[in-house]
Amino acid sequence: MEIFETAENIFFYNHPQARLIMHRETVEFIKKQFGHKEFIPLHEPVFAGNEKKYLNECIDSTFVSYIGKFVSEFEHRIQEFTGASYAIATSNGTVALHSALILAGVKENDEVLMPSLTFVATANAVAYCKAHPLFVDNSTKTLGIDVDKLREFLVTNSEIRNDGFCYNKKTGRRIVSVIAVHTFGHPVEMDKLNALAQEFNITVIEDAAESIGSKYRGHHTGTFGKIGVLSFNGNKTITTGGGGMIITNDEEIAKRARHITTTAKLPHRWEYVHDEIGFNYRMSNINAAIGVAQMEVLESVIKSKRELAEQYKEFFESTGLDFYTEPEDCYSNYWLNVIFMKDREDRDEFLKFSNDAGVMTRPSWTLLNKLRMYSECEKMDLEGANWLEDRIVSLPSSPRI
Ligand SMILES: Cc1ncc(COP(=O)(O)O)c(C=O)c1O
Repeated sequence: MEIFETAENIFFYNHPQARLIMHRETVEFIKKQFGHKEFIPLHEPVFAGNEKKYLNECIDSTFVSYIGKFVSEFEHRIQEFTGASYAIATSNGTVALHSALILAGVKENDEVLMPSLTFVATANAVAYCKAHPLFVDNSTKTLGIDVDKLREFLVTNSEIRNDGFCYNKKTGRRIVSVIAVHTFGHPVEMDKLNALAQEFNITVIEDAAESIGSKYRGHHTGTFGKIGVLSFNGNKTITTGGGGMIITNDEEIAKRARHITTTAKLPHRWEYVHDEIGFNYRMSNINAAIGVAQMEVLESVIKSKRELAEQYKEFFESTGLDFYTEPEDCYSNYWLNVIFMKDREDRDEFLKFSNDAGVMTRPSWTLLNKLRMYSECEKMDLEGANWLEDRIVSLPSSPRI
């Protein structure tokens, strides 16, 4: 990044004392944003609304498993908020991803394209299908899949065979699906990705686990692909404790999603008949009760997070450090605010300094191709992902309401 290339900055970063002053100022700034609390977590949930009231109602009703009014209400609210035609609540985002892959027709020995810089759940869901992740580079512009590099890769390394499917020329495996991850809440260039996927007959799944409230060209993330997936884990923008959601505009997929996540039970007043091996993947009414209350404050949570991002931006402009802002045509929820350090050494120095000072900061995830279980997977050149891994530090980003 050119920001580090001015004579002044090179001079500055070569001086440990100057770096230390910068780290101290940054930590002081973060502490000030969060009322000088002794420990500042990376992202904590806010329960300021009707959570307890709805939980009590839920328990009083005795409907505490996956059947209950809060499950349907939560699904309805997600439909309304995202603009998706259908929403199916699941027990977490990982199982929503697993279900999405099954719904997209991913079978044993197929390949699924995904960025190498993402949370491990994206690849795990593929492994649950006995399929193989194929790691794509991340763009330093959007933090998600580098669509231009993916195009180059597919043009050179894949072919459409007579059955209409795209095959990896090297491995001979089908490339069935691509998972676009909206990293830290920042949207991928979905128009470009959809056009590419259509050319190669590849089904688009969006891992929008981190991006509730984020939009690309005015539309909610998760609604561009065939299937989108959300997460309501405790560290996300809003939470249900543990929870996820499958969203789609396709009626058939929605029906099948509901079926396979509910043990594939055929509807009947008393008979237990299941027509395939299904899953117990639905969200409980208890979790959904929290979800409904969280939906009531979602807009103000996002507003608060975007205000914090603006304050970070102003602060880092004055320090010369590189704060990541939403890509072009995007409206981001700034799930986790991110800065780019000069290099890995600088990154690690700041991580140690801030965590020692009670400010929780984190590097990006280790690239998935570097994890033991995924080290043998196919991958393209990962220059952008490596660049990001060396430099990303995520900063405390909890909503302040
Ligand atoms: C990108 C991404 N994908 C998938 C998941 C999995 O979601 P969950 O934790 O709800 O299983 C997460 C977060 O946890 C995530 O950040």
